[in-house]
Amino acid sequence: MKISVVGCGYLGAVHAAAMADLGHDVVGIDVDQAKIDALAAGRAPFFEPGLPEILTSASASGRLSFSSDIVAASEATVHFIAVGTPQKPGSYSADMTYVDAALEALLPILKPGDLVVGKSTVPVGTASRLAERVREVQPAARLAWNPEFLREGFAVQDTIAPDRLVYGVASEADDAAASKAQLDEVYAKALSEGTPLVVTDYATAELVKVSANAFLATKISFINAIAEIAEVTGANITELADAIGFDARIGRRFLNAGVGFGGGCLPKDIRAFGARAEELGRGESLAFLKEVDAINLRRRQRVVDLVVEMLGQHAFEKRVAVLGLAFKPDSDDIRDSPALDVAVQLNGLGALVSATDPEAIANARAKHPQLHFVTAVEDAVRDAEIVVLLTEWTQYRALRPADIESLVSGKRIIDGRNVLDAAEWKAAGWDYRGMGRP
Ligand code: UDX
Repeated sequence: MKISVVGCGYLGAVHAAAMADLGHDVVGIDVDQAKIDALAAGRAPFFEPGLPEILTSASASGRLSFSSDIVAASEATVHFIAVGTPQKPGSYSADMTYVDAALEALLPILKPGDLVVGKSTVPVGTASRLAERVREVQPAARLAWNPEFLREGFAVQDTIAPDRLVYGVASEADDAAASKAQLDEVYAKALSEGTPLVVTDYATAELVKVSANAFLATKISFINAIAEIAEVTGANITELADAIGFDARIGRRFLNAGVGFGGGCLPKDIRAFGARAEELGRGESLAFLKEVDAINLRRRQRVVDLVVEMLGQHAFEKRVAVLGLAFKPDSDDIRDSPALDVAVQLNGLGALVSATDPEAIANARAKHPQLHFVTAVEDAVRDAEIVVLLTEWTQYRALRPADIESLVSGKRIIDGRNVLDAAEWKAAGWDYRGMGRP
């Protein structure tokens, strides 16, 4: 199929490359010329495992190109909208500027039979509004909503072999059948491998996405709320999560207590969902998401308070090593990162923070140049009075006391992701503190 992907960020760049990898002819469009230049040269503009490989192979096959000019999308028959919907400044609502601009850019090039496919996470009601706009300008073109569930760090695999596909299509039967047929062709490989497919209306497709993210955020905040109780009772949140996770109805995944969730999706999506519910006169239905948000943000404060407490009630002029800046491992994404937030707060308290991360330093430095960044763990921990692990990269999970104890000036460590062997660190004479662990 001939496909265009408008928006080449974390979602769109991966989607474009993955669609070309599947054998489609793809053009990626973005207004950011620097991003287009990098992608066209086969360079991923952000860190995502597996992306450079499929970018290179797809470009070499001649099936993948990039352009900042929408006219390059004229020959495509399926046009994906994969632009961002960030939190609107001064509000909890989603900023729809980029989605609206992407559709307006596409409208003049739409041909009869073309399908516009929304992938961005949007407030419920957006798809029917955009479908109306498509009908006004090109009555023989159509719109579908096909939410994306990819996780950063696993984005390539999640796009090529998703755990489910959801199509939100128009209510008219002919329109719905034609949209489904086109999407089935796009996703022929995944469908032939038995990927579950849900074909539904626009509103359901939009709500599936935000509900999934709200559920995941709630699951994480649930275990973090219990961690707060564990902290005052001496209980162990990791053993508790293991024990409740054996119940198949609960499940162990997404029950890791720690410094909480961040990233470009969960935080802003639960806020936008709550804001949309208020607009719909159903604010009380999602009022619990405010609590989910508040629990999550308290975990960052908990780490800061713990550092201050362990350093003798003040952090001023104390050397603090921060391991991890990305919002999760295998990503260089620092959007709403709990790790970076904690580093900035400690710096603000006058601590001498040395922060490191395998991939996210450049992004963190661009946003917070006041922090001191070092590339090696050894440099971060040298003379540190406390070590704070905030993103569970494999290399940090593998840290043993002997690796760093000759370098630090105080044997204190906070395991903000509960990934170290507490007994081992304590046995080596460290003051070890986890999150919700005794
Ligand atoms: C999320 C959804 O998982 C994905 O389906 C959606 O498409 C986009 O949003 P992502 O933002 O890549 O994906 O990250 P995810 O793996 O969900 O992690 C989100 C945050 O939760 C991270 O900061 C992570 O560290 C944290 N987390 C996750 C926990 O604190 N505990 C857990 O048990 C799991």
